[in-house]
Amino acid sequence: LSKIIIAIDGYSSTGKSTIAKQLAKVLGYVYVDTGAMYRAVTLYALQHDLISKDEFLKEKLIESLPDIQLQFHFNAEKGFAEIYLNGKNVEEKIRTLEVSNYVSQVAAVPEVRKKQVEQQHKFGKEKGIVMDGRDIGTVVFPEAELKLFMTASAETRAQRRYDELLQKGEKVTFEEVLENVKSRDHIDSTRKDSPLLQAPDAVVIDNSEMSLNEQFEKILALAKNAI
Ligand code: C5P
Repeated sequence: LSKIIIAIDGYSSTGKSTIAKQLAKVLGYVYVDTGAMYRAVTLYALQHDLISKDEFLKEKLIESLPDIQLQFHFNAEKGFAEIYLNGKNVEEKIRTLEVSNYVSQVAAVPEVRKKQVEQQHKFGKEKGIVMDGRDIGTVVFPEAELKLFMTASAETRAQRRYDELLQKGEKVTFEEVLENVKSRDHIDSTRKDSPLLQAPDAVVIDNSEMSLNEQFEKILALAKNAI
């Protein structure tokens, strides 16, 4: 069997990573969560007081980029690769609502994107990869053999994210989460560099009314067809 690149893009909290992880496991492929990379850069910016409600020291962040090293290490127990920022596992820390509130501003900076995309290209060299994000099928791997574009209503997505955050013990309200989902989609879709766009050859999956199983069956069939 030949190895392919599977690109999964779409709006925030559409369950891209859940499907991508499952798919990678069944196909024996590597899963790369590119959102985790932008989140880790955002965590660095927060830790170094480069971003807050009042200001964003964009130039300083750009100057700091050589000091930001990201790596993925496979966690056999969890079955996927976790992200490390300068040697520290930050998989949990990058999933907070605080990071979500700033990540789209950070991800809109072309210099930040350029560095992440270079690393993403390296991951895809050998193919056999499932990568999820916002610009994978359009910018990172426009040659990907299978492209999916995931979407669902903002309310459905916010509800899923809200349940996840509550389960992790974060004190958030549904309204805050809904606001975050909408604002990220807006910034991600309207930025100049690599906006969130549906590739013309992407298969659209609206999962508002689909169970995980239904989605997975459909996507696995598409993948097998493409391989
Ligand atoms: O996928 P996730 O929701 O974790 O992504 C967090 C944020 O990272 C997105 O809202 C977007 O601003 C940014 N992102 C991006 N390009 C990607 C993946 C994520 O700009 N390929």
